[in-house]
Amino acid sequence: MPAACLALLTCCAVMSFKSIILQGGKEVAERMVYIITPTYRRPTQAPDLTRLMQTLRLATNLFWIVVEDSRNYTKLVDNILRRSGIPGAHLLGPTPANKKNKTSGRGAACRNRALEWIRENATSPGVVYFADDDNTYDVRLFDEIRKTRGISVFPVGVVGLYGVSSPVVRNGKVIGFHDSYKGGRRYLLDMAGFAVSLELLFANKDAAMAFKLGKQEDEFLRSFNVSIEQMEPLCSNCTQVYVWHTQTVRSVFPKWSAISKKGQYNDTNLQQLYRNIL
Ligand code: UGA
Ligand code: MN
Repeated sequence: MPAACLALLTCCAVMSFKSIILQGGKEVAERMVYIITPTYRRPTQAPDLTRLMQTLRLATNLFWIVVEDSRNYTKLVDNILRRSGIPGAHLLGPTPANKKNKTSGRGAACRNRALEWIRENATSPGVVYFADDDNTYDVRLFDEIRKTRGISVFPVGVVGLYGVSSPVVRNGKVIGFHDSYKGGRRYLLDMAGFAVSLELLFANKDAAMAFKLGKQEDEFLRSFNVSIEQMEPLCSNCTQVYVWHTQTVRSVFPKWSAISKKGQYNDTNLQQLYRNIL
């Protein structure tokens, strides 16, 4: 066989092998999923973050960006991130004083700080997902999210009056949304119900979270100009729930001064226990 033909054949073989790898998912498996988690001080912060951290530890190729709604870094969050062993970034994204009200929504400042960090530091290919600290995640969700090319969408359990928020899918295409809260939104999606590729994020430099209760997701998604039909349904064509919008029951911070009024517990474990909790 002439050398030129052999070279051509080898070249074709290499090319087809490469495309098999790409289609076969190796490239997808290696794509980083950037998880953005806003968090703030409250009695249930430790259990919520511990549960999330231990779920994330079960997944591979994750980068966990934890943003504190605070002016100072806290030991609690630092310890959890360190113990996790998960690559990540610990940032601050305090809510501005004039946005601390009932109509501005929660976590927007944190998410915007994380988006800023990603635009400066992340390298594509990758996918961004907003994972609040109190939701419940099935570890299978992250490999689903990894498949995202533009914007992917999927069901979120325990949301609103229908008990679930989900895209409506027919013949593998998203044709609308099923969510009891309409609120004048174009995309009826929960914060936990979509993911965006880094490529799309980098191409839309202004995409950010608005300080508007109930409108954060919709306004963010509108900035990408992606039609409903272009959205990629995940989780077996949106028939499986891999994330739930759970909420931890409110609790109170204990007061050591009230517990040990007469100093009766000062020589016991309780003193250190309360120090550790607070
Ligand atoms: C719903 C939505 O699912 C959130 O994505 C949205 O941010 C929020 O409403 C809102 O806009 O108010 P919900 O479960 O009601 O979520 O809210 P939280 O879980 O209390 O807060 C959402 C995230 O923001 C959490 O990760 C939480 O730790 C964080 N957060 C909350 C702050 O960073 N600062 C706060 O003052 C409160
Ligand atoms: Mn929540």
